[in-house]
Amino acid sequence: MEFTHHDVVRKFKVLYTGEPLIIRAPGRINLIGEHTDYNNGFVMPAAIDYGTFFALAPATDGRSEIFALKNGQTYTVDLEQDIKPVKNPGWVNYLLGIIHKLKSGGHPLIPFKCVFGGNIPIGSGLSSSASLECGFAFALNELNHLRIDRQRLIFMAQWSEHNFVGVKCGIMDQFASMMGKKDNVILLDCRSLEYSYSPLKLDGYSLVLCDTKVKHALVDSDYNTRRHECERGVEVLKKHYPEISSLRDVKCDMLEKHKGEFAGREFNRCLYIVQEMERVLMANNDLKNNNLKAFGEKMFETHKGLSGLYEVSCDELDFFVAIAHEHEGVIGARMMGGGFGGCTINIVQSDAALDFTSTIKKSYRAMFNIDPEIYPVTIGEGVSIVNNETQETIL
Ligand code: GLA
Repeated sequence: MEFTHHDVVRKFKVLYTGEPLIIRAPGRINLIGEHTDYNNGFVMPAAIDYGTFFALAPATDGRSEIFALKNGQTYTVDLEQDIKPVKNPGWVNYLLGIIHKLKSGGHPLIPFKCVFGGNIPIGSGLSSSASLECGFAFALNELNHLRIDRQRLIFMAQWSEHNFVGVKCGIMDQFASMMGKKDNVILLDCRSLEYSYSPLKLDGYSLVLCDTKVKHALVDSDYNTRRHECERGVEVLKKHYPEISSLRDVKCDMLEKHKGEFAGREFNRCLYIVQEMERVLMANNDLKNNNLKAFGEKMFETHKGLSGLYEVSCDELDFFVAIAHEHEGVIGARMMGGGFGGCTINIVQSDAALDFTSTIKKSYRAMFNIDPEIYPVTIGEGVSIVNNETQETIL
């Protein structure tokens, strides 16, 4: 189900009173640099033109309520009480974590009414969760005139995901949703949080996302396991190189030298990460040199690593990338996000996009008996206030 900001505002006016503040929080794509964020590496995400809208205003009856347009559920929050995660409904935890963090940081919150909804496909790896956390944090910051800067809001959003949702995610998704800039990718150093924007000049190419429509079980716990395997790898190497604190400080030869000391798949996991960190920087040079083809090649290499070494892909994603690889009009493709399902990101010649997507649809249906979704995407702004009259975003 897709909702526009008009749907959200309309519902707000049916349920509540007052002129609401309207916030838009985008999802994100990631061009390259997968699973590197929680290893202190580089990533290259961008905010997209799919997002979540929030309409909120002070409550006139003193009761704080959040209404989710998607499933028609209302959740009542008592701001005076200690805020804890709940079993049901699951969606509210993304938001409760933000309230908890603001309160525990000593920020007084006024009771509010809030309606939210949007058009980010859930479970497709486009970070609908980061958009919920970031949009809500930004909204409460505005409503309560707290003047917390975007960087601190990003950390609050990540804190909520770690502690109220239980996924030990890196910083990429929240950063991209909050800091995105139209038509630009962000090169983010997840260790120092230094970042720069580069215009993505696609000149005759388009970004196309292909959604497998599958989400294999245990996604969250597998994600946390990968993170743990990387940390174990760092511990192994620390015995020999006490100066290292994350895989960011590791080079391939250090790994090779101590290969026999790693347990299970830890060596493969670390190897992928170290290679991917180097690849992001090389890919960034490709962009600077306007060499989109070389950039695309690196996306295919990333996919190989994610599938073979890091093992976060699945048959469906591998199938999409294989089709993309064979198609003349595609210069780069890989699975995107945490993995185990969700989308691939493809760089496709614009005039071949129709042929590519119909090939994907036909062959995927024949192989897996599933109709995939295809999303053409463009790069949009980060979290912003929406002017209800003009529909313009105000940064
Ligand atoms: C999820 C996490 C991010 C990042 C990606 C993989 O989207 O939320 O922090 O680790 O997976 O790159």
